[in-house]
Amino acid sequence: MYRTHTCGELRASHAGQTVTVSGWVNRRRDHGGVVFFDLRDRAGIVQVTINPDLPKEALDLVASVRFEWVLQVEGLVHKRPAGNENPNMETGEIEIIAKNITVLNPAKTLPFMVSSDTDLADENARLKYRYLDLRRERMTRNMVLRHKVIKFMRDYLDEKGFIEVETPIMFKATPEGARDYLVPSRIYPGQFYALPQSPQQLKQLLMVAGMDKYFQIARCFRDEDLRGDRQPEFTQLDLEMSFVHRDDVLDLVEDLFTKMIPAVAPHKKLLSTPWRKFSYREVVELYGSDKPDLRFGMELVDVSEVFAKSEFKVFKSALEAGGVIKCIVAPRSADMSRKEVDALTEVAKTFGAKGMPTLGITTEGVKGSISKFVTPAEVDALKSRIGAKEGDLIVFATDERAVVNKTLGGLRLWFRDKLDLADKEMMAFAWVVDFPFFAWNEENQAWESEHHPFTMPKLEDLPKFDTDPGAVMSDAYDMVCNGYEMASGSIRIHRRDIQMKMFQMLGLTDEEIQAKFGHMLEAFEYGAPPHGGMAPGIDRLVMLLADEPNIREVIAFPKNQAGRDVMADAPSEVEPKQLKELHIKFS
Ligand code: AMO
Repeated sequence: MYRTHTCGELRASHAGQTVTVSGWVNRRRDHGGVVFFDLRDRAGIVQVTINPDLPKEALDLVASVRFEWVLQVEGLVHKRPAGNENPNMETGEIEIIAKNITVLNPAKTLPFMVSSDTDLADENARLKYRYLDLRRERMTRNMVLRHKVIKFMRDYLDEKGFIEVETPIMFKATPEGARDYLVPSRIYPGQFYALPQSPQQLKQLLMVAGMDKYFQIARCFRDEDLRGDRQPEFTQLDLEMSFVHRDDVLDLVEDLFTKMIPAVAPHKKLLSTPWRKFSYREVVELYGSDKPDLRFGMELVDVSEVFAKSEFKVFKSALEAGGVIKCIVAPRSADMSRKEVDALTEVAKTFGAKGMPTLGITTEGVKGSISKFVTPAEVDALKSRIGAKEGDLIVFATDERAVVNKTLGGLRLWFRDKLDLADKEMMAFAWVVDFPFFAWNEENQAWESEHHPFTMPKLEDLPKFDTDPGAVMSDAYDMVCNGYEMASGSIRIHRRDIQMKMFQMLGLTDEEIQAKFGHMLEAFEYGAPPHGGMAPGIDRLVMLLADEPNIREVIAFPKNQAGRDVMADAPSEVEPKQLKELHIKFS
């Protein structure tokens, strides 16, 4: 038997018992002949004390032990004398007085320390030796949290009558807006499977199959540009329900999340229950983003009316061109230096703004780049419209509406970070609903589906398909939290005629539709129930709950920022024989 207890579970109540534990040497200290080890396993850390009265061989062995060796220790649990407890350790009331020590496996000197978080090696080293990196307490905590999140989801959905169904990884292209990963077929030269960007089609087909309520902890594969919140393969809680309207889906997922957060991360707070619900247009106007961070205010305010008669050239010409003037109010920033304002103006330009007019409210009146161009009456009207007070910096954007919203949305987040405006323990969940059905792709000069092509348009908007596609709204919804898109979903098209129309609008020919989606269209002819669902991203959720800066920290074996697995060195070349079998030749 390797152990009677885990290292982390021993408490004062175990005092007097002889126990056996196994684990890694987290630290060792020598104190005048007495050696102390901290022995670590997944459950925690316990102190092992080696008294000098052990036999000489045992003491020699102890002398050779180094960090991260794997030991088995048999010993007596001893309550530490009053004053010697370590309140920073869960097992700090006790120590194990060693009787026998066995080395289960020695270890080479590690490429980096795993016993503390202060020595975070560079990320590629951490990923190359991920199995060591995961030994860190922080990473172990993240993996346990992830497990708890997934377990809670499974238990909750099971309780609500959902069944978990696995769907194939080798399938056919399922468009979600990214490139596909393809798997060449050996048996069918020139033919490929595609890894699913999500189980979207399959879960809809499960509804046609009468599965009623489906979920899956589903791996998705997307070949797209990487970011901190994106991985080429990631995990969704994918779910789908039959005979539901939008709010049935939202209510279920909101209830799941509202109950899950206190259960898995009790230190986190929810902004509001029920969650706020915004229309897409509303949220973009208020926060300049369709994935707003609601942990702080600084909403965008339209002040075009205040400056309707302004002679200030920038404002005047923007309004004449049909644009708008909007602003945000940054607290404690009226005294931002010229240099800082200039630097921030450069940030504003990255969002498409041509400049960044500002007004600071100070005891001596207004200052800032446009103070000379505004009248006292305009300043008064402005102050009462936006409720600005002394110390505030008013930051304007003036241009066409989309540019203004994007700019102020970006600057709002910049001030959030600079002024530390967001409560780190807050989870500000909200729904965004009523998305436009189509988005116009300027580059391709074509309509694209804003969500995915299986989303149901609002039925009353069907006549606008041919006349005004941009005005068609969809029954799609997103869950947002702290500036991230956490989930999206929709009520689906379950009628063949509407699905056909949708594909045609996206510019697909009848042959293409048949080749790519013939199976879906056919399924809709055999009694498809009305259905809808959604898919929260699990990596992003765990990242926020674990206070991590990116999703790599909550994935056991992620790809690095360049999309490589640096531990196994993948992607990598394969044997010429394999290529030949797959009928692949490089020119
Ligand atoms: P969507 O493509 O919006 O919808 O994805 C849903 C959620 O999955 C997460 N996500 C990602 N997480 C990490 N890395 C990525 N590359 C990545 N891409 C997406 C996000 C996102 O909100 N089939 C639809 C859902 C549906 O309609 O039911 C879908 O996949 O959290």
